[in-house]
Amino acid sequence: MQMSGENFIVVEGVRKSFGNIEALKGVDITVKRGQILGLLGPNGAGKTTLIRILTTLLKPDAGTVSVANIDVLKDPDRLRGLIGLAGQYPAVDERLTGRENLVMVGQLYHFSRVDARQRANELLAQFLLEDAADRPVSTYSGGMRRRLDLAASIVARPPVLFLDEPTGGLDPRTRIELWDAIRQLVEHGTTLLLTTQRLEEADALADRIVVIDEGRVIAEGTSNELKAQMGHDVLEFRVANFTYLRRAGEALQALGDELPRIDSATGLVAIAVTNGSKSLIEAVRLLDAADVEVTDLTLRRPSLDEVFLALTDTKSANEVIKNNVPI
Ligand SMILES: Nc1ncnc2c1ncn2[C@@H]1O[C@H](COP(=O)(O)OP(=O)(O)O)[C@@H](O)[C@H]1O
Ligand SMILES: [Mg+2]
Repeated sequence: MQMSGENFIVVEGVRKSFGNIEALKGVDITVKRGQILGLLGPNGAGKTTLIRILTTLLKPDAGTVSVANIDVLKDPDRLRGLIGLAGQYPAVDERLTGRENLVMVGQLYHFSRVDARQRANELLAQFLLEDAADRPVSTYSGGMRRRLDLAASIVARPPVLFLDEPTGGLDPRTRIELWDAIRQLVEHGTTLLLTTQRLEEADALADRIVVIDEGRVIAEGTSNELKAQMGHDVLEFRVANFTYLRRAGEALQALGDELPRIDSATGLVAIAVTNGSKSLIEAVRLLDAADVEVTDLTLRRPSLDEVFLALTDTKSANEVIKNNVPI
């Protein structure tokens, strides 16, 4: 992890339409050498389109793109040897074994047969695939396929790596296992751009997060900075008895700018407040006056889910938040 240094991925003013769908509406992104950028956005935000442009698979309608100091649009052939890509769906060959897949990729990169086999052995060990190495990929679990796909993307030790939703479709436990594999990829100074639909995942893996929605960058920063940009805390409590729920909601309307969120299944009430501990005291006063008994009263920072929902909810997103972090 390295926070200073040269820009190694630079995207400026990139636009791309498919017919009348504007997938990217002018995107600017930079990633420093050795940094991990999490490109976070909901389905359809434009993540894969941007990855395809960065990896020479698609030409933008406008804008400039450089990776590893190479102009991607002018010199795609020179770039291809320097990047690795693991797409949204594993691209490994089902009929071949894990080992055969990796050897084949090595040979595509013009490794000698000996070197390709040697590199395959290293990667099978690194990604905990030794036991399954000589079985066809069609017998692999989803997590194993993803690990093999990650391994295939780094056969040639590319200095820049792109991972498009590397844990998409995996169950939570397998996803967390894969995070370790991804952390290993970047131990040796690789610059990584990874996309995800989960802020939690971007937070776990990335140095910096860029949030995109509907083809535009809507926020950027570390997860703490994104939380701080929300500009409020969340006051939360449970009612001791569900019959208090409505009264509790009504009593607190005076407290925040927005209406409290009430979960009638769990008895949980949450409201955004800007006055920190003053709000906490006021809440206790209001609830007491309304004769509402509560438990688990806490004041907390917004959760990652709340940040992401607020950022990508176009109906309530009243302003574009952009935090230019000094680097
Ligand atoms: N080849 C294509 N033809 C038509 N529309 C496309 C194509 N690729 C992407 N799109 C559209 O562009 C938008 C962005 O898609 P995509 O980049 O795949 O988003 P994400 O990867 O964030 O889910 C979506 O509305 C999608 O339907
Ligand atoms: Mg995608």
